[in-house]
Amino acid sequence: MNLVVVSNRVARGMANEPMTGGLAAALLPVVEKSGAIWVGSSGRVRDGAQKEPFAEIEALGAGALAMLDLPAAHYGGYYEGFANSALWPALHSRSDLIRASQEDYLSYREVNAFMARALLRFQKQDTTFWVQDYHFLALGAELRELGVTQPIGFFLHTPWPARAVIGGVPHHRRLVEAMLAYDLIGFQTQDDCENFLGYLMADLGLKVESGVVTSRHGQTRVAVFPIGIDPEKFAQQSIKAVSHPDVSRLRRSLNGEKLAIGVDRLDYSKGLVNRICAFDQMWTAQPALARTVSLLQIATPSRGGIEAYGNLQSDLAKLISDVNGRHGEVDWTPIRYLNKGFSQTVLAGLYRTAQVGVVTPLHDGMNLVAKEYVAAQNPADPGVLVLSKFAGAANELDTALLVNPHDIDGMARAIATALSMPLLERRMRWEAMMKKLRSSTIQQWFADFVDALQEAQLDKGASAPLIAESPTLWPRRSANGGMRYH
Ligand code: F6P
Repeated sequence: MNLVVVSNRVARGMANEPMTGGLAAALLPVVEKSGAIWVGSSGRVRDGAQKEPFAEIEALGAGALAMLDLPAAHYGGYYEGFANSALWPALHSRSDLIRASQEDYLSYREVNAFMARALLRFQKQDTTFWVQDYHFLALGAELRELGVTQPIGFFLHTPWPARAVIGGVPHHRRLVEAMLAYDLIGFQTQDDCENFLGYLMADLGLKVESGVVTSRHGQTRVAVFPIGIDPEKFAQQSIKAVSHPDVSRLRRSLNGEKLAIGVDRLDYSKGLVNRICAFDQMWTAQPALARTVSLLQIATPSRGGIEAYGNLQSDLAKLISDVNGRHGEVDWTPIRYLNKGFSQTVLAGLYRTAQVGVVTPLHDGMNLVAKEYVAAQNPADPGVLVLSKFAGAANELDTALLVNPHDIDGMARAIATALSMPLLERRMRWEAMMKKLRSSTIQQWFADFVDALQEAQLDKGASAPLIAESPTLWPRRSANGGMRYH
């Protein structure tokens, strides 16, 4: 099989480069090993009607990385517009932040169509396409329009929200119908899968049986594939990283004080304001904890051209300076706040240094930082993970200290509990989480999805041929959960 993986953001195989975002960092090692071709955006744009899309191609492990220049006229409307100002807020249940124009939607569709044309050059008879994330909901349908009959799968790295929320996205119906051109659609959690199937049945009137939906495109399998990490590799990285200058400088600067760490993209879904308020509340309610623990918050800026992100960046900076001003001392800064990215290696060392990992998003597809924090701990003296119950990772890491990110007092208490947790309890909780991480690795996730995609296409071959384009909706049936691999 010749695998072509597609995502908006790609990563080059350089271990010491800073990484923004879970998808690219997670996919890099597995794509490298698989020999796949990984196609994505170069981050540059190109003017004019490109006859042949321009791609910079370089070797990536056993395969290749192809970075495309996207059309200048549509890039803004696609990336900052429809993908990140309409779909992203909706997928994270922030209907209040949805901003979308008709031009943005058209640009999004143009870029999906452009990517489909560009992919044809990588197509062989035995090609399987695997499309990642909300930037390319309609890419499968565009590929089908171009006559592609090979298997095409799709995995969503974000949550899929309740019906009413997705209904707030302009053209939601057309987009979801287009998604049904995929042979397999994967979600992070059972809740996401059920929300999606609920929409198909209630809004599109489609029939779903044992996680298979029948539409005018034929059959699509819908299933859950929780993304993992390589815990052993991350653990080794964290041991090596202890001698990295950034990590050893941090250790020296602590003077016996405990450290809590948060590492996030600067995004409103990450619950950063509530997290800072929880630390503020903890130091206010328990002044004895001042000087005994500080927070290192790394918040890497992204999508800076979008108003909601600019507002968050200034609100957060102001809040942190206010908290530092109130609780700080001449020789103690409660919150160290950094707006830059770090390599995976350095992050592994920083996680190992921290006695508490705070991962408190308001809503998150998976949140691989939670898994990485656990994997980076010293087994003899592990730190404690304080984890939002609304992160996908909470389904597996249920022995973390689970918190409600809207409950500031509750979070403040949980952080204080984490700081004083006895070693025996820390070890029991950590061992249970490591067991889960070892049984559901990124390699397993990759193989499970690709296997299920091959099977989904075989089933499709055995079922009825494609039904001609028509707006026909199928009769309603009773609710039926999707399939779950793992
Ligand atoms: O799932 C969302 C996602 O693709 C993540 O994998 C990653 O954290 C983020 O979005 C990257 O966003 P951007 O490429 O816009 O910085």
